[in-house]
Amino acid sequence: DRSSAPELLDIAVEVARNAADTAYRMRAEGVSVTATKSTVTDVVTAADRAVERQISDALRRLRPDDAMLGEEYGAAQPGSDAPARVRWIVDPIDGTVNYLYGLPHSAVSIAAEVDGEVVAGVVRNIHTGEEWTATLGGGAWRDGRQLRCSAETDLGQTLVITGFGYDPARRAHQARVVAELIPHVRDIRRLGAAAIDLCLVAEGRADAYYEKGLAAWDQAAGALVAAEAGLRVGGLGGRAPGPDMVIAAPPAIFAPLHDRLVDLDADGGP
Ligand code: IPD
Repeated sequence: DRSSAPELLDIAVEVARNAADTAYRMRAEGVSVTATKSTVTDVVTAADRAVERQISDALRRLRPDDAMLGEEYGAAQPGSDAPARVRWIVDPIDGTVNYLYGLPHSAVSIAAEVDGEVVAGVVRNIHTGEEWTATLGGGAWRDGRQLRCSAETDLGQTLVITGFGYDPARRAHQARVVAELIPHVRDIRRLGAAAIDLCLVAEGRADAYYEKGLAAWDQAAGALVAAEAGLRVGGLGGRAPGPDMVIAAPPAIFAPLHDRLVDLDADGGP
């Protein structure tokens, strides 16, 4: 089966490694902001665009009948007229601001969806080469080691990672949520690349993650890695994880964190 999860993962890994090499090389040659998107802080570098082009060219060559959704160039339809069963969800550089500054926390993220369900994903740190992979039902892995999330049961002992959007009013609201949440948890981190953050939680290098405002490309691969490592991944009020909210937490932490976030109106504001 050419669309089995392991087959799609092999392709994703090969393409992500080449893309990460390009991003690393371009970073060494020097990067600068080439454009801004939603706000002045939402930046694009030449590398974001070049790396997405490289990924889409590679996928088009290897998988001409598949569709793709990418952060920089949006949706691409398959080469043939037949409706695509497989769609690739690509963030060429997640953590663009870290990449711009040379902070070693940005990644290539590639996920493969079959009939609307994410079945394979890879996140590769551009700077360190750390690589996290998962297939649906096949576990989450890093460097040949299977990942298990933390077994934390007390929200008060939970190390939480979160992130902020680019819109100033949204950020102000997110900062108020952080201010209210921090007395109730061990601590809060803002590391700057949602895809990697979800993988760190999958490894137990932090306990839980939440963020409002993520796009599909920020979270598709990382959320599969997190879920396959035993985290409960969801949105608010029983909804699927999406732009309103993504929570990834150990099973015993999900409900208390979720309820705090509801109390704090974490999905409210702009
Ligand atoms: C951003 C990062 C960041 C998160 C933002 C994302 P980008 O993605 O994942 O950690 O807080 O919500 O937009 O712009 O660097 O690809």
